[in-house]
Amino acid sequence: MLGQTPPVIAEDELHELGRDSGAHGEVVLRRRGPVTELVVDGVFAMDDVDTSTERALATEALRRCPGADLRVLVGGLGLGWTAATVLADPRVAAVDVAELQPALVGWAGAGLLPGLPELPAGRLRLLVGDVADTLAGSPGRWDAVLLDVDNGPAFLVHQFNAGLYAGAGLTAALAALRPGGVLAIWSSDPAPELAGRLATLPGATDVEHLVLPVERDGRRFDHALVLARAAQSPADGPTG
Ligand SMILES: C[S@@+](CC[C@H](N)C(=O)[O-])C[C@H]1O[C@@H](n2cnc3c(N)ncnc32)[C@H](O)[C@@H]1O
Repeated sequence: MLGQTPPVIAEDELHELGRDSGAHGEVVLRRRGPVTELVVDGVFAMDDVDTSTERALATEALRRCPGADLRVLVGGLGLGWTAATVLADPRVAAVDVAELQPALVGWAGAGLLPGLPELPAGRLRLLVGDVADTLAGSPGRWDAVLLDVDNGPAFLVHQFNAGLYAGAGLTAALAALRPGGVLAIWSSDPAPELAGRLATLPGATDVEHLVLPVERDGRRFDHALVLARAAQSPADGPTG
């Protein structure tokens, strides 16, 4: 998810594709010239000028997952780039996407999301709801859990998402993984505190913090991924 100012394009090029209001505020999908934008609850969530880091969330997690028949949970559908990148990996057998905004799931079905213009039959389940509830309800289920629901732990779109990045939320995400599975979290800015918090949890091992620079309008933005592996057993996690 992006937190920066959208590109300056003439207002008359703005074309609204969808707008909906519900329990979690308003969601707007629109095109600004050649670019698709998503605004969630009044916060500019993302556009598709450069989706390299949304796609890297998937590829970096999956290249740390050995084997085939992988099951993956994506938290936050957005414009569909992360989910589509997961689906592009032939080793992935099943992808669950938890999305808070029912309208986005509807727009995906109508082919309006640029990252996921067609919904593949069979391997993809779109779930409407809070990813925190999905995580809590399914211990040991996924090989990878990918979270991109905010602009990052320091720039929340919904205040209730703060719990995802706290110790209890991270512990629930790790518990939703099979032993050795991978948790990956996208952040619009470097998030060393999040990596540090994960490293203290007994359920986590192999914590990594990757900074991914992106050039936009002549400016450099450092997005980040925080990754951790679910401990094979409590003995694998950090001690002390
Ligand atoms: C920036 S978008 C995700 C972008 C996505 N990675 C992509 O590649 O297009 C964030 C999405 O997370 C959703 N979201 C926010 N909080 C959520 C939550 N607690 N559970 C599920 N979805 C959530 C938002 O509605 C939005 O669709």
